[in-house]
Amino acid sequence: MGYMKSLIGKESGIRYPLEALYVCEVSFGPLEVEYDYERMQGDVTREKILNRPGNMWRYREFLPIEGDPTVGQQVGFTPLVEAKQLAKKLGCKKIYIKNDAVNYPTLSFKDRVVAVALSRAKELGFTTVSCASTGNLANSVAANAAGAGLRAVIFIPCDLEHTKIIGTSIYGARVVGIRGSYDEVNRLCSEIANHYPWGFVNINLRPYYSEGSKTVGFEICEQLGWRAPAQVVIPMASGSLLTKIHKAINEFTQLGLIEAGSTRIFGAQATGCSPIAKAVKNDWDIFRPEKPDTIAKSLAIGNPADGYFAHQIINKTKGWAEDVSDPEIIAAIKLLAETEGIFTETAGGVTLGVTLKLLESGKLDKNEEIVICITGNGLKTQEAIVDAVVAPDVIDPKLASFEAIWKDNS
Ligand SMILES: Cc1ncc(COP(=O)(O)O)c(C=O)c1O
Repeated sequence: MGYMKSLIGKESGIRYPLEALYVCEVSFGPLEVEYDYERMQGDVTREKILNRPGNMWRYREFLPIEGDPTVGQQVGFTPLVEAKQLAKKLGCKKIYIKNDAVNYPTLSFKDRVVAVALSRAKELGFTTVSCASTGNLANSVAANAAGAGLRAVIFIPCDLEHTKIIGTSIYGARVVGIRGSYDEVNRLCSEIANHYPWGFVNINLRPYYSEGSKTVGFEICEQLGWRAPAQVVIPMASGSLLTKIHKAINEFTQLGLIEAGSTRIFGAQATGCSPIAKAVKNDWDIFRPEKPDTIAKSLAIGNPADGYFAHQIINKTKGWAEDVSDPEIIAAIKLLAETEGIFTETAGGVTLGVTLKLLESGKLDKNEEIVICITGNGLKTQEAIVDAVVAPDVIDPKLASFEAIWKDNS
């Protein structure tokens, strides 16, 4: 049996049963999973975790399912790469890339949240799963649902990157493109969720789903040799990933798996959709919803569900948030590819671009280690960089032709 106790209102503290619920009826705020940490205390040890296979379920006590995981046995435990060339170029002491661009099966960190959401959906008896998505979630729900024998109905803004649309339809999912922004898609899905008995992973299953993001934080701590990072830079769309990496570090500390540290948490957004970064930079108590206009479509959420909580964590940990323009995103994608051989999608360009800006402003400390969360794969957003890469030389199959183009490079 798992360690869940109840769902609990994040603001109200009111408890609810462990069902497909996501909004507190009193505060209208989000619900979160509450665990029995006391019972977990003696049961979770480093040895136990180390003896399990290298995937996200090695932290299963911290994840919201009752029985054994049924989805995602290959997901997670992605590489934490020491980025020596990038660090040298930027004059930094140590940089690590947490590389979820190679996550299984759909090449983004969303495979983690989906593994949890679908495992829980099966426990709750759903046979159809659904989501509102900016692209990566669509890919992951479609693929994992196919593998789990579930029907998938996916809602996306109709103008997503082609690869993200094809990378959803291929799995046999029913894909519905909406003429509108992600925020409009999400609103429609909340309505549909009231009429259809489906498990919407990021709506009525959201308290369970979002917990999957904690595994990024657990892995970073374990891969650093069982300690918390000094500074971590995280992309933000809804802001959930950032809040869950923070929660993961706190849970590992609370259970004595790592020593108490003082991780500073930094958030990254694209300038064309930066409600959370703007709230942080202007010290606003609330964020102002935006109409997105950026190539970083996966981060294009104008009204972020966890924006308020992400802002609070950034303040509490003495971090900061920044945003970068589309040309800065493209330059950062190229920089990561050329220095570390890692091809990230636009979201990763945002995260590295923001890292550069925070180093320049001195908000990030060059002399302390930095972990950069790369959350998605560049093969999925090639449209964004197609004009920014050098086209190959095309020549006749003759030595003279080669030498004609090579002479300037020798
Ligand atoms: C590649 C990528 N990185 C980061 C995020 C941000 O996730 P969150 O909504 O948890 O802030 C997303 C969201 O879709 C994403 O697709």
